[in-house]
Amino acid sequence: MLNLVGLGFVVLLAAMGAATVESTLTTILQIQSLLMLVLQLIALCLMHFDVCNSVQYDYYKYHPMHEIQSWMAQIKNEHPDVVTIMDYGKTYEHRTISLLKIGFDTGEKKKAIWMDCGIHAREWIAPAFCQYFVREILNAYKTDSKMQEMMKNMDFYVTPVLNMDGYIYSWEEERLWRKNRSPGPAGCACNGTDLNRNFDANWGTIGVSADCCSNIYCGSHPVSEPEAQAVTYFVGTRKEDFLCFLTIHSYGQLLLVPYGHPNFTASNYNELMEVGLAAAEAIWKVHGKNYTVGASPDVLYPNSGSSRDWARMQGIPLAYTFELRDNGTFGFELPENQIQPTCEEAYMGALHIITYAHDKTFSGAVATVAATLWTVLIAMGVTGSNSM
Ligand SMILES: *[C@@H]1O[C@H](CO)[C@@H](O)[C@H](O)[C@H]1NC(C)=O
Ligand SMILES: *[C@@H]1O[C@H](CO)[C@@H](O)[C@H](O)[C@H]1NC(C)=O
Ligand SMILES: *[C@@H]1O[C@H](CO)[C@@H](O)[C@H](O)[C@H]1NC(C)=O
Ligand SMILES: *[C@@H]1O[C@H](CO)[C@@H](O)[C@H](O)[C@H]1NC(C)=O
Ligand SMILES: [Zn+2]
Repeated sequence: MLNLVGLGFVVLLAAMGAATVESTLTTILQIQSLLMLVLQLIALCLMHFDVCNSVQYDYYKYHPMHEIQSWMAQIKNEHPDVVTIMDYGKTYEHRTISLLKIGFDTGEKKKAIWMDCGIHAREWIAPAFCQYFVREILNAYKTDSKMQEMMKNMDFYVTPVLNMDGYIYSWEEERLWRKNRSPGPAGCACNGTDLNRNFDANWGTIGVSADCCSNIYCGSHPVSEPEAQAVTYFVGTRKEDFLCFLTIHSYGQLLLVPYGHPNFTASNYNELMEVGLAAAEAIWKVHGKNYTVGASPDVLYPNSGSSRDWARMQGIPLAYTFELRDNGTFGFELPENQIQPTCEEAYMGALHIITYAHDKTFSGAVATVAATLWTVLIAMGVTGSNSM
């Protein structure tokens, strides 16, 4: 901003110098209009820099990558007691992949919930949902004893945009770009691997392409891509902690359970379906949208190498893919006026699955008493929270 103001004055001085050969009246008019210009520049700068942005983040607009990154920093600054940022990998173009870890620091080993958004670049509603989800749980825990209990027993690991390179490419070059941005094998002119075909789960067997120009190119070998490696390493080294693995996509209004390969069925398929159907009902109650629940081959198409299937194969019991709105009218280009209702309903669905996972692991009565005590402590400010 200072540079622009400086520039404004240089222009002003130059104009004054030039004005000596002009009539006085013209000079005054020139100075006035230049002053106006400088003031406008200052106003413009103020509007576009953090000063104003940090006050009100618009959750019902799509945001480019750099705004989502500042938002993450802002969330961490506003909730230092419960939020940390963890860097856990690099994209092909060397961007740092980060997640928000949200939960009370109890000093004990905790269970965990995984949520990633934006593994497919063009599915812009997904990152919007991750941001909404984070805001909601950070609003809820201050008054809702159930959320407090969950944030005491579990940490939420939320990656707002996993495929950062692809997301930026979809903003700047090609709105409907899906894959990451790594180059294909030698001799192939196309870039990009479908990260959701690249995980080590029946890799390369069905619902994929070996053609590097295809949108479902599965890569040269399992976990060949740095973004898939990041998730594989981070989750894989803590797999016994994760109760739940939620990966957020669009579109189709579906809740998909493992597996994508038609010849395999999850050992807890019945549980996955039961919980999924109840989540779909919770979604339906919000705005009447119909979400279909099932394994990919049954309700969408068979596939292999998805992160959801990989997570289930690691032993994470409750692994789901959310395919958010819509059902085909706008597809990947969901209008911004649907961000709010889409997030509201999907939040209730996700919350149902997460609450189920929590309650199954932490037995009711004891946990409730502990949570109530915790609520009182938080209300009294005893836990060291400084953001109430
Ligand atoms: C593929 O990516 C490389 C950089 O990694 C870039 O130079 C090239 O132009 C890209 N090719 C296409 C077809 O986008
Ligand atoms: C599934 O199993 C059947 C019977 O063994 C086999 O013929 C078929 O090729 C398998 N499908 C896939 C996609 O591997
Ligand atoms: C919701 O979806 C189910 C299964 O796809 C279908 O049977 C049902 O008729 C749908 N309901 C509405 C109101 O569209
Ligand atoms: C998609 O949803 C709209 C609005 O809810 C509905 O009118 C339409 O019938 C649905 N189309 C399909 C193919 O399900
Ligand atoms: Zn997707």
